[in-house]
Amino acid sequence: MSLIDVRDLTCRYGSRTILQDVSFSVTAGEVLAILGGSGCGKSTLLKHLIGLYPPASGSICIGGDEFVGAQSTTRQRILRRIGVMYQSGALFGSMSVLDNVRLPLETFTRLDARAIETLARLKLRQVGLEDFAELFPAELSGGMQKRAAIARAMVLDPQILFLDEPSAGLDPLTSAGLDKLIRELAASQGMTFVVVTHELASINAIADRAIMLDRSVQGIIATGSPAELATHPDPLVSGFFRREAPARAQ
Ligand SMILES: Nc1ncnc2c1ncn2[C@@H]1O[C@H](COP(=O)(O)OP(=O)(O)O)[C@@H](O)[C@H]1O
Ligand SMILES: [Mg+2]
Repeated sequence: MSLIDVRDLTCRYGSRTILQDVSFSVTAGEVLAILGGSGCGKSTLLKHLIGLYPPASGSICIGGDEFVGAQSTTRQRILRRIGVMYQSGALFGSMSVLDNVRLPLETFTRLDARAIETLARLKLRQVGLEDFAELFPAELSGGMQKRAAIARAMVLDPQILFLDEPSAGLDPLTSAGLDKLIRELAASQGMTFVVVTHELASINAIADRAIMLDRSVQGIIATGSPAELATHPDPLVSGFFRREAPARAQ
């Protein structure tokens, strides 16, 4: 059964339609990549999936619960199933890494301070940052900041993690390390990932399946594994996969 089921989702800002009648689903444990050119609506889709904006129409089922129009109790139940790292990925600069990761536990649970610290440190260990807990975000490298943001996003043990361009601005080696972390978390925790990315290396490394959005159709132009999309008959799709091929072949 699908963990996320999106049917005929239409997303608008005011009168401007960004996505029209988009349908897809995500299976539990799957890593789904959302691809597409700049401005095609990847972040918009993500923000609607996490309930930040109400869709103009359509349905978003998460774990069997309808998210669109959900009342408070259902909405809270769904929100507890999901963790998010936004494109800006911002940690709070005035707080240590540990305090950043502690924050969701302090806000959303009634655990005592000791339990919260233990859990926060455990998450930092899972992302390889156990020795950097006391540092401030500015004292970390870009890749480490992303890892800390992932630790914060998963501290409440969500079933699904939504990541918006996690490897943006990172060098290829750091980006590859982040890809490895995502795959490890999917394998060891059975976590489901929905990852917006346009990094070809990342897509090939992490995605079980991908959907490609395009502005011309205000929606999905292709769905499949990275290998399937690379040989897709639509040149817009296969071209996306070919664009970095010469550099990678060297
Ligand atoms: N909050 C918003 N209000 C109005 N328009 C927006 C908003 N966010 C994004 N847009 C517009 O929607 C389109 C898709 O944006 P976005 O989802 O950020 O694209 P992507 O993430 O694929 O680059 C863009 O034209 C953008 O200007
Ligand atoms: Mg975006």
